[in-house]
Formats: sequence, structure tokens, C-alpha cells
Amino acid sequence: MRALCWNGINDLRVETVPDPEIVNPRDAILKVGLSTTCGSDLHFIGGYIPTMREGDVIGHEFMGEVVDVGSEVKKVKRGDRVVVPSFICCGSCWYCKHDLWSLCDTTNPNAVMQQAALGYPTAGIYGYTHAFGGYAGSHATYIRVPHADTDCFKVPDELDDEQVLFLSDAAPTGFMGADFCNIQRGDVIAVWGAGAVGQMAMQSARALGAERVIAIDRYPERLALAREKAHAETIDYETENVLERLEELTGGRGPDACIDAVGMEAHGPGIQYAYDRIKQALRLESDRGDALRQAIMAVRKGGVLSILGVYGVMDKFPIGVLMNKGVTVRTAQQHGQKYIPKLIELLQSGQLDTSYLTTHRFSLEDSPRGYAMFKDKEDQIMRAVFKPS
Ligand SMILES: NC(=O)c1ccc[n+]([C@@H]2O[C@H](COP(=O)([O-])OP(=O)(O)OC[C@H]3O[C@@H](n4cnc5c(N)ncnc54)[C@H](O)[C@@H]3O)[C@@H](O)[C@H]2O)c1
Ligand SMILES: [Zn+2]
Ligand SMILES: [Zn+2]
Repeated sequence: MRALCWNGINDLRVETVPDPEIVNPRDAILKVGLSTTCGSDLHFIGGYIPTMREGDVIGHEFMGEVVDVGSEVKKVKRGDRVVVPSFICCGSCWYCKHDLWSLCDTTNPNAVMQQAALGYPTAGIYGYTHAFGGYAGSHATYIRVPHADTDCFKVPDELDDEQVLFLSDAAPTGFMGADFCNIQRGDVIAVWGAGAVGQMAMQSARALGAERVIAIDRYPERLALAREKAHAETIDYETENVLERLEELTGGRGPDACIDAVGMEAHGPGIQYAYDRIKQALRLESDRGDALRQAIMAVRKGGVLSILGVYGVMDKFPIGVLMNKGVTVRTAQQHGQKYIPKLIELLQSGQLDTSYLTTHRFSLEDSPRGYAMFKDKEDQIMRAVFKPS
């Protein structure tokens, strides 16, 4: 089959690789219907997250049709149209039973690679480094899905492929970020980053009852979508002083919760950005922290900081600001298995709209171009979506 492979920093190529096969009786093989880019991919494509190997098939957000199942698969059958969360989960360990899906204890065969860095390993993920399991990714004609009964979610006929594709990752991530904010009547939620994850966090904050949502980014088209789709007020961090504006907009108190949907490749106008960029380029720190540091400063006393952006190691992390202001920090890789059933309902009732996230469509053969455009945010791209066949 054909698949998009990582061959070194900023070197992606479509190659012919072996078809996946059923390895365990609980596996399914999916014919990939649609697969999409994610901000998380940019981090390892650019070399900021280690343990990729030449020839790794990338991609972790996808939907498709079940074409084969192992002998112990009971709920899922050939012909089912399903969406699959990006984290691979067993459904039976302590973490899965406690709804902490991305922390599944059994699906990372390379646990030892993470233990040194994290203390304990996380779940495995498709197409996302060997430290996260070394599983083949979804930018391919076919993909093996372990634990098919737990991880394949059948989707209703009335929802189209492009709508359900984002239930794989961006929508549950954004919803989880809003859920972490424990939203009360009258709350103001500020969201850094108006990419697909930020957009989903803003819509979810609304669906969970936020009175006001404030979006911070620099791309006019993304800020316009935040206004249109989540009725957000917007701040352009390149032309406005974010902390002053947030103070003004909240009567001097600050947002009740701040969501970081930016991550380790944050951009910024000031000297701190230059410092992070140099240290990141020299591999002396992995993170550029402009957005996260700003969110920490902005959040009101006793508020919530909800971190969705992916991070590694950051210099000058203002732990004292969090401590002295009594801020609650919530963060995780997405627990898709927890949220997908609810998100299907929200799509059906029209409270969640994922349709506008697909701005650019490519064949699999053309997927390297999709990533190049997504990296540089060319032509107002939000997400590049690949159709393998
Ligand atoms: N926790 C999870 O499970 C999970 C899942 C998916 C993605 N992510 C992470 O979420 C983040 C966003 O993903 P995405 O796909 O939306 O990416 P994206 O690249 O499309 O969007 C990131 C946005 O952040 C904006 N930005 C950069 N610096 C900023 C700053 N200083 N202030 C405000 N905005 C700034 C960019 O302009 C861009 O619009 C990434 O770090 C990704 O790794 C986490
Ligand atoms: Zn993702
Ligand atoms: Zn588990």
C-alpha cells in the first residue's frame, strides 16, 4: 500500500510499504476513508519531539471502513463506518476504567522509552514516535487498529466523513479542554490558539455554558472563524497588548479560565520569543512558551489553566505565579474514548460544527504538500485532509 513516511527532519515522502495485518485477535484493519494533519505532527516533523525513525508512517486522526477483524472482535464488523481516537486504549486497565484513556497502561510496547522522561508510560498513539509505541499511522491506505471493540466508534449515517473525522482528535481535545474549566454561569474563557483544537475548545466552552469566549491568535481568518462559529471576542496578539486587553474585557479581574491550544511552537512578538527560539534551535530546551506563560499571567486568581498544547521541557516556567494566584492546572493528552459518544450527539443536534475545519483536500500522493502548507499556514489553511483512495 501507499503511505506518508517521515524520513528525517522536514522530509516527508509517500512510499510503498507492506499492508498491515491482524496481529492480535482483538485487532481490526480499516480502509482509511479520511485522515488529517494535526499541530502535534509539526512538533516531530520539525525535530522537536525525538524518537522518530526513518520510514515511520505518520498520521493519527482518521476515520474509515472496517475491512477485517480478528477472531475476538465482537462489536465491530466488516463494513462498519467508524472513527477512531488517536490514543490506543485497552478498555480494561485501571486507567481506562477510570476514564483516563490516554494514560492506558497496556498499549505502549516501548514503555521503557518513556519511563525515564515521564516516570510512567502513557498509552500508545498512531504514527507518533517510538516513545509513544511506534505504531504505524493513518496517512495510508490501510491501518491496523488494536482493541477494535474499545477504539472503533460507529458513526451515524447522517453525519458525513468530514464531520466525523475530527471526532478522532481535535474535537475531543477541545471539548476536554473546556470540560477541565469547570464552567459556571457567567464565566469568561480565554483560548490561546485558534487552530482546529482552539476552535473546538471555543465551541465546547459555549456548549458547556460559558458566557463569553475570548480568542487570541494572529491569523485574521482564524480569528474571524472564532467570531463567526463560537461568537468569540478576539485579540490579535501582534497588534494588541494581550494582558491589557484581557484586563479591560474582564473588568480588571482576568478570565475565569485560560485554555492553551498552542503548544511548544508558540510564536510571539517579544524578546522572550527570541530567547526560546535560539534555545530550541540549539536543542537546549524543547518548548517555546510565549502563549503558556501569557495564559498563566492572564488567568484570574483562583482560576483554571487548561493546557491542551503539547509540551516537553520549558525554561523560565513561572510556577510561582500559578502558586501565588492559587491556579488549578488541568492538562492531558486527549481522552477521546470518554468524549466521542457525547460529541456525536452534539454534532447531531448542531451544537458542534466541525465542517469548516476541512479547508484543503489532497490525495495521499500529494500529502507532503498538504503538510508544507499546514506548517506555514498558507492560503488560510486550517487543516489539510487526505483521501487515500
Ligand atoms: N492534548 C492533546 O491531546 C492534543 C491533541 C491535539 C493537538 N494538541 C496540541 O494542540 C496544539 C494546537 O493544535 P492545532 O492542530 O490546533 O495546531 P495549529 O498549528 O493549527 O494551531 C496553533 C495556533 O496557535 C497560534 N499561536 C502561535 N503562537 C501563539 C501565541 N503566542 N498566542 C496565541 N496563539 C498563538 C498559531 O497562530 C496557530 O493558529 C498543538 O500543540 C498540538 O500538539 C494536543
Ligand atoms: Zn492530533
Ligand atoms: Zn487501558
